[in-house]
Amino acid sequence: MSGLLKGKRIVVTGGAGLLGRTFCTAIAEHGGQAVVADRDLDAAKCAVDAIVQQYPAGAVAATLDITDKDSVDRMIGDVHVRCGRIDAIVNNAYPRNSRYGRRMEEVEYADFCDNLGMHLGGYFLVMQRFADYFKRTGGGNMINVSSIYGVVAPRFDIYEGTPMTMPVEYAAIKSGLLHLTRYFAQYLKGSNIRVNALSPGGILDRQPEAFLARYRDLCADKGMLNPSDLAGSLVFLLSDLSRHVDGQNLIVDDGFSL
Ligand SMILES: NC(=O)c1ccc[n+]([C@@H]2O[C@H](COP(=O)([O-])OP(=O)(O)OC[C@H]3O[C@@H](n4cnc5c(N)ncnc54)[C@H](O)[C@@H]3O)[C@@H](O)[C@H]2O)c1
Repeated sequence: MSGLLKGKRIVVTGGAGLLGRTFCTAIAEHGGQAVVADRDLDAAKCAVDAIVQQYPAGAVAATLDITDKDSVDRMIGDVHVRCGRIDAIVNNAYPRNSRYGRRMEEVEYADFCDNLGMHLGGYFLVMQRFADYFKRTGGGNMINVSSIYGVVAPRFDIYEGTPMTMPVEYAAIKSGLLHLTRYFAQYLKGSNIRVNALSPGGILDRQPEAFLARYRDLCADKGMLNPSDLAGSLVFLLSDLSRHVDGQNLIVDDGFSL
């Protein structure tokens, strides 16, 4: 344990998911307390049970729907009472509807708007409500989880021969999120609130071998990453080591986006 996050209480939205569980474990490992905030409360409790076995005060669960203002405000109020205060928010949930992930030609206008509203709109709502909370409590730290596909155009050839694609909504959401990060960092200057983004490359999750090999060819060494490969960069952005880093995007992708 490094103690880099000692005493810090950090909310992770979507904390029960693939990346969220690893982020919450890393927070506990470095001395902080993670609030596993998820729409799926059972999954959040499950994640907390696993973390507290190793780090007894390392995590608590909270219910949250990032698309519902009352839910966001209620979660902030409840966690503030339970934990004393909140030092940071990791905007990491991944809302999408049942028709998300289709090829560009098949995306309906209503689904495009729905998915942008839930994901980009939900991240905006979390930032807006936390900006208000952090102003009232004297400061805070926000990290938005974006993606390399918010930075570069997709390389569609790596998906050929697989059922996978890179959804058009995702490009709009994640690039929009990077500029929202700069907007909020600029808007909140002088209020002791900093706002940064973390942009991961692809994460290993049982993808087809042909895709993995083509992806790896575009990287320096490893190719697709494990969730734990992102943990150090997240801890850096959450810690005081990055105290004067504001409005930036930290890309962790083994060189894929070069
Ligand atoms: N997995 C990847 O390859 C990858 C790569 C780059 C970036 N990312 C980004 O990382 C973040 C996490 O992705 P993941 O792969 O861990 O996703 P995931 O689907 O494994 O987990 C997402 C979590 O968000 C929760 N959630 C969904 N809608 C919610 C809502 N409205 N309110 C609160 N919680 C909600 C889900 O219950 C789930 O626990 C996302 O922003 C994603 O875009 C993922």
